Amino acid sequence: MRTETPVTVYRKDYQPYPYAIPEVALAFDLDPESTEVRSTLKVERKPDAPADAPLVLDGADLELVSVQVDGQPWPAARYTLDESTLTLTGLPARAAVEIVSRCRPGANSTLMGLYVSGGNFFTQCEAEGFRRITWFADRPDVMSRYRVTLRAGADYPVLLSNGNLLATRILPDGRQEAEWEDPFPKPCYLFALVAGRLTHRETKVRTASGREVLLQVYSDPGSEDRTEWALESLVRALRWDEARFGLELDLDRFMVVAVRDFNMGAMENKGLNIFNAAYVLADPQTATDANYEGIEAVVGHEYFHNWTGNRVTCRDWFQLSLKEGLTVFRDQEFTADMMARGLEPGAAASARAVKRIDDVVTLRAAQYPEDAGPMAHPIRPESYQEIGNFYTATVYEKGAEVIRMQHTLLGEAGFRAGMDEYFRRHDGQAVTCDDFVAAMESVYQRQHPGRDLAVFRRWYRQAGTPRVAVALHHDAAARRCTITLTQRCPPVGVEKRADDGYVKAPFHIPFAIGLLDPHGRALPLRQGDGTVETALLELTEESRQWVFEDIDARPVPSLLRGFSAPVIVEYDWTDAELALLSAHDSDPFARWEAGQELATRQILALAGRHQAGQPMQAEDAFIQAWRALLTDPALDAGYRARALALPSEKTLAERMEAIDPPALAAARDYLRAELGRQLAAQWRAAFDQNQTPGEYSPAPEPAGKRALKNLALAHLMAGGVAGAQELAQAQFDQAGNMTDSLAALSALVNYGQDQAPAQALQAFYTRWQDDPLVIDKWFTLQATARGTDVDRVRALMAHPAFTLRNPNRARALVFQFCLNNARGLHRPDGAGYAFWAEQVLALDALNPEVAARLARALDNWARFVPALRTPMQHALQRVREHAGLSRNVLEIVSKALEFAA
Ligand code: TRP
Ligand code: ZN
Repeated sequence: MRTETPVTVYRKDYQPYPYAIPEVALAFDLDPESTEVRSTLKVERKPDAPADAPLVLDGADLELVSVQVDGQPWPAARYTLDESTLTLTGLPARAAVEIVSRCRPGANSTLMGLYVSGGNFFTQCEAEGFRRITWFADRPDVMSRYRVTLRAGADYPVLLSNGNLLATRILPDGRQEAEWEDPFPKPCYLFALVAGRLTHRETKVRTASGREVLLQVYSDPGSEDRTEWALESLVRALRWDEARFGLELDLDRFMVVAVRDFNMGAMENKGLNIFNAAYVLADPQTATDANYEGIEAVVGHEYFHNWTGNRVTCRDWFQLSLKEGLTVFRDQEFTADMMARGLEPGAAASARAVKRIDDVVTLRAAQYPEDAGPMAHPIRPESYQEIGNFYTATVYEKGAEVIRMQHTLLGEAGFRAGMDEYFRRHDGQAVTCDDFVAAMESVYQRQHPGRDLAVFRRWYRQAGTPRVAVALHHDAAARRCTITLTQRCPPVGVEKRADDGYVKAPFHIPFAIGLLDPHGRALPLRQGDGTVETALLELTEESRQWVFEDIDARPVPSLLRGFSAPVIVEYDWTDAELALLSAHDSDPFARWEAGQELATRQILALAGRHQAGQPMQAEDAFIQAWRALLTDPALDAGYRARALALPSEKTLAERMEAIDPPALAAARDYLRAELGRQLAAQWRAAFDQNQTPGEYSPAPEPAGKRALKNLALAHLMAGGVAGAQELAQAQFDQAGNMTDSLAALSALVNYGQDQAPAQALQAFYTRWQDDPLVIDKWFTLQATARGTDVDRVRALMAHPAFTLRNPNRARALVFQFCLNNARGLHRPDGAGYAFWAEQVLALDALNPEVAARLARALDNWARFVPALRTPMQHALQRVREHAGLSRNVLEIVSKALEFAA
């Protein structure tokens, strides 16, 4: 018996809320055992709502103390209470509704609503957590002005909420009280409070218009020396949004608070952002280059939400990508601009390409499989059972690509004009994705009279990754080259069962291309009166041709430059053509792509031989292409590190007819070792030449050097090159920063001989045992190590430092193993899947949001080789039949079983 029956919510069923709630007053008596919340709502029936419209309020896990209307107890006959709603009937057109309720933050392991972490109080309300705090219209189109009173004992000296602090006082009983007011109307998902013992770092800056604002970063006492980078990142984000988008901070005070127990990365609550501590705390000894970059990006992301999300918010949760896709695009551009800062044009292009490559790697590893599997959904879903399951790579990362395509179509100035128009039209409103596109379209139509974004809008309603087949025809006599693009995108996931008669139609695809002559030189392409090196082809129907004149010899096409659209390109380059692009393409993204395609072909061929029981043998041409990249002095180190990294197993799996993780892993391992052996001298030179002595800096240049140097170390170790282990051991012993320490540890654990792996792991643990963020890295490194199997993970779960209750720790070990250690998980005896099922169920009892993310590890079970498919299916069935499963996990496993095949 299930406790939850799935209810599907449809986008088409949107109805406005019948009441406005312009003002909310909340008073909290904070106590972990039982917190009392007094909520006073000013409600006004909307003019077009029926006079008998009930006031339906959402609630979850609350205890009702009293209901009053206009100061009088409200008769029991005029309200009904069930598991999820409190419904008031017979209200006057305007009323003050006062609801007193109790909740139990100390017992709240879901980390949604009000909860306790490390003895302090925190909230998380997006998407539907506010209903765990008090009964309310928990939907983003109900916007209110909040006044908040917090009362707590002396153990909670810091009392924070959204907006401005009005007053603090000590109460007669010795407790403290603080009163906050947020001047901006907001949906309840942006409400936040924090109470406890915290330290902080702050700075004051002047905004573009000359207002002085206070920026603060709060964290656990003792961590104050690790918040400098986050605060500096916040200042950079504020400056960047002013400079690039003309958007200023609208509050006098902006706070970031770090918490150790958090379901996601961070949350953009108005004026009071709450962050997973992993995205706040950093110093050179404990944080890696990737951590520094991640902190800057997430601080930027949440800060940018203040305009894209908060000032203009979502009408309903189907519109989630309105704020997330746009804000991810903004944080990507922020990072790219920070990486290119102060560089001359060529170096700046390479630096920006590094960011673009990293983002595309993420998209392909996380979003492409999602878009090809049972959970496939458009960036604006048509339906959901649990909205918490739709904070996905599709809504975020593909959503950002859809914004980026609009940026590409309109150009930087046009996009900025479209953003200005969006704010002119919608500041202070809760709107839809269509409203955003309409603002952009108003500029596009000015630029291109007679055209519109009607076809483009299909990116919002159709799922799946389109494939674009490219045909090139060269007519030597006419000196003419014809390019034909043809797109297709069959129905995926729920689209296969669509019952509304909707038929998928072509997308509007901006497709950037260049042509190289047989020597690798860029051919000028005629466009208008002049010539360009890169042409932007706009494919808006199934198939179309473009003609390029004055081309003597058959050119080599450089396709989807800069990754101008989230599609899969189909073109049969020869290996020699790919090698030419990899060595000469002037577009740094396409150049990287050519090398990756070569590596993909090589690994898939090796995997095929492995499956057939034949010996593996790397092709010399491939090794030579890698040698050329490794030794090209024109390429900066960070770019070279990306170019030389073999494609991930996840990306490779997408290219297999039937996914065979052991064969893929064996092929990838073999090739890495072979590269290590055959290019040992070049790797060694790269290792020596890219040392970064002196004081640590997370800047792109030294970080790029470390990335290349550590890639070299891994290859030397993988190849078993003489002296490599000594290099790794020396780096591990002497490293002055976490990037180098962790890279050396990883090399030792994955490839080290004898006692070296165990000793290094022990030494690392002993040194960092009191630092949770570093111990997370220690677990992750082992969870993803080559030799780690289910038994090893179980042993690590028995370690005293392990707990499922802290999401970071659960993610570090259990998720990393299930999602990023294919070889360890996919065993024909099904032991990996049994472990997965067990952990999904254990987590579900504590935290359904987090459990549902682990549940997704088996999404694409139907695409694996038959020997693995059946045990995966059985594990999914076992989870689905479990009594008392949450809605969150139930939706994931049901869809996996129903829509995968
Ligand atoms: N809006 C948050 C962001 O910046 C996402 C988020 C944070 C979230 N915590 C959450 C979403 C908890 C759901 C549940 O992207
Ligand atoms: Zn966001």
